[in-house]
Amino acid sequence: MLPSSPSQPAAFPTALCVPVAFPATSRGYDIQVGVNLLSDAGQRIEATLGKRRCVVVTDSNVAPLYLKRLEATLIAAGHDVGAPIVVPAGESSKSYATLQSVLDQLFAQGADRKTLLIALGGGVIGDLTGFTASIFMRGIDVVQFPTTLLAQVDSSVGGKTGIDTPHGKNTVGSFYQPRLVLIDVTTLDSLPTREVLAGYAEVVKYGLIMDKEFFAWCAAHGAKLLNGDRESQRHAIAACCAMKAQIVAEDEHDNGKRGLLNLGHTFGHALEAELDYDARLLHGEAVAIGTAMAFQLSAELGLCPSWDAQAVLTHFKEIGLPLAPPAGTYDVDALMQRMGHDKKAEAGKLVLILARGIGQAEIVRDVNPYPVRVLWKNTLGI
Ligand SMILES: NC(=O)c1ccc[n+]([C@@H]2O[C@H](COP(=O)([O-])OP(=O)(O)OC[C@H]3O[C@@H](n4cnc5c(N)ncnc54)[C@H](O)[C@@H]3O)[C@@H](O)[C@H]2O)c1
Ligand SMILES: [Zn+2]
Repeated sequence: MLPSSPSQPAAFPTALCVPVAFPATSRGYDIQVGVNLLSDAGQRIEATLGKRRCVVVTDSNVAPLYLKRLEATLIAAGHDVGAPIVVPAGESSKSYATLQSVLDQLFAQGADRKTLLIALGGGVIGDLTGFTASIFMRGIDVVQFPTTLLAQVDSSVGGKTGIDTPHGKNTVGSFYQPRLVLIDVTTLDSLPTREVLAGYAEVVKYGLIMDKEFFAWCAAHGAKLLNGDRESQRHAIAACCAMKAQIVAEDEHDNGKRGLLNLGHTFGHALEAELDYDARLLHGEAVAIGTAMAFQLSAELGLCPSWDAQAVLTHFKEIGLPLAPPAGTYDVDALMQRMGHDKKAEAGKLVLILARGIGQAEIVRDVNPYPVRVLWKNTLGI
């Protein structure tokens, strides 16, 4: 069962609509998931936010693919479209320098408090644009138009925004919710297969955290999703957004349940950091390895049935997700230290997201480091 069933937005029957509600503050927004939203995004934005002065922020890979179509629909719907802001593709754009450049370009074209930013791109663009929107003139509206699977099921939903600094990834940022999220699954057609597969690790993650039936759906239909089947893409993305919406509504500022979304991430971040966050290992690949390790450890500790851990490994293997990082020289001490210094580590103890079974993740404090070391050695073959 999905935690909340996505419905069809009345005026636009081709999209599934997932509401994100924040009961305490009354701020909420819709996530619309559909096919070809790039052709009527302008109307969808107009229906929610009125006719606006819009500035699209995108990156150098996405601009040639989708910027013209987005601008055309914005103009057709009567919005006033400013000069687009195109930043270099890649994580390096989540920086002070790019942030300043985006802000300067907004000032240069006379953007004001009523200007609407539209983030067209992956998680880098979503995080950078969301953060820009949160500080420009003390906060302006932002619409997320995510174009990677990772951004569609994760980063565009929930309002975490930010940039990287010399002090670490995402170390400057804000919680700032978008006004609307528009997800056009056809944008996945141009995404490199490896990026789609990496994003799929975050899709499966939701089933493993909180919905056993959704994991079973992934095991049965994941391959179709990866092959571009529209219905599978729509269903899975809407389901993931509904699950993230549910968690975020309960814990907007990441003080409790939201931590569950980090399943596989403590292991994964350690590997990513050891590999300098370079192209050898994509974030989703690291998450897949980390998630498999979290389930193996859960089984090892007697928390989770071993057949559940086996089912996770089997699905990852069948679908083509990695269970180990690329060949290289790894240092278990360094990895353990990275895990110990992870932001979830409390007073030097290992805090991990483990599972009682598929769909039953939980935060476990004071994990014994010894079996974790053994698991690293097994995973790395050393
Ligand atoms: N805010 C959050 O809650 C949250 C959650 C998870 C991750 N993130 C952040 O998200 C970022 C990673 O996101 P990502 O994986 O989307 O990376 P990304 O934005 O760098 O996109 C990956 C690559 O795909 C290209 N691309 C994007 N859409 C495309 C398309 N449709 N067709 C072809 N190419 C396309 C991009 O130009 C880039 O080269 C990280 O910075 C991470 O910190 C944020
Ligand atoms: Zn992640």
